[in-house]
Amino acid sequence: MVKFVNVSQSYGSFKALHDLNFEIKKGSLLALLGPNGAGKSTTLNIMTGFRPPLEGEVFINDINIFENPEEAKSCIGYLAEIPPLYPELTVIEYLIFIAEMRGMSHEASISRSKEVLKLLNLLEREEALIKNLSKGLKQRVGIAQSILHYPKLLVLDEPTVGLEPSQLIEFRQVIRHLAKETGMTVVISTHIMSEAAELCDEVIIISEGKKIFEGSKDFLLTNNDKQEFSYELIVVRPSQELLTHLTNIQDILNVVENNNIITLTTNKDISEIIVEETIKFGAGVKSITPTVNSLEKVFLDLTIKK
Ligand SMILES: Nc1ncnc2c1ncn2[C@@H]1O[C@H](COP(=O)(O)OP(=O)(O)OP(=O)(O)O)[C@@H](O)[C@H]1O
Ligand SMILES: [Mg+2]
Repeated sequence: MVKFVNVSQSYGSFKALHDLNFEIKKGSLLALLGPNGAGKSTTLNIMTGFRPPLEGEVFINDINIFENPEEAKSCIGYLAEIPPLYPELTVIEYLIFIAEMRGMSHEASISRSKEVLKLLNLLEREEALIKNLSKGLKQRVGIAQSILHYPKLLVLDEPTVGLEPSQLIEFRQVIRHLAKETGMTVVISTHIMSEAAELCDEVIIISEGKKIFEGSKDFLLTNNDKQEFSYELIVVRPSQELLTHLTNIQDILNVVENNNIITLTTNKDISEIIVEETIKFGAGVKSITPTVNSLEKVFLDLTIKK
């Protein structure tokens, strides 16, 4: 569905992308993952034909996007980091407006807008003013407008930034439903590893404008032989004895305490043991949260500057 061949990009003398090569298969749900400033938005702007690269070629559905931009772009739905919404319009007015801008007749625009609202579970909100919607719903309206023209490829730039946990879960459900119902290829950029892990099957990791991983999420996981877990434990009255004791427990690899927060790395999921042992040493446990999953560890290992 997408092919990048030796793509480079510069802003002035700053090289933002270095010789990127990758392919995205039809029907995949792919995360473009990388830390802030890695070049994700730059990559997506080139993928969607908004900006030509300095060097290299990009094919969408085998069409060269800079030689045949209209044909290639008709295959693409793109939602940039900030969705281009009109707050004073109702949801349905906005969608009809965008559909007409895309060249559909008024009647076709109405029926397609309704179809898309149904697909995104937004029918109940069609008369709501966009400005009164929650951030999660605005995001969904943004996606709705980007798929009005039946794109084969949907590209979303950091769509989950600022969503709260319940909205995140809904977002994932909506995307999975959409991918399943339409067979679209979906590309989502994110700097959050766990998000990529929850939602996508395929992953491309970039860092400082270079590709450092391309493959399936499962491959990334199974090739991480150092399976490590990490917890953040918020405690009351941690003593030096407790910290020494924790360090000596088998399976605990590392213990660091700072301001009543103990960060532990283990090679097994042993949260219950950690809590029991902490209480034994007279400290109160306010909470224990897994902080970094193993996939996240891989991401950090790959992207942290050596
Ligand atoms: N118009 C521009 N002019 C100059 N430098 C730019 C411009 N756009 C991006 N950059 C720089 O290029 C690099 C890549 O930027 P890009 O926005 O593609 O990264 P990103 O991975 O999307 O980051 P974020 O996670 O912050 O959205 C960054 O160092 C950024 O500062
Ligand atoms: Mg960006």
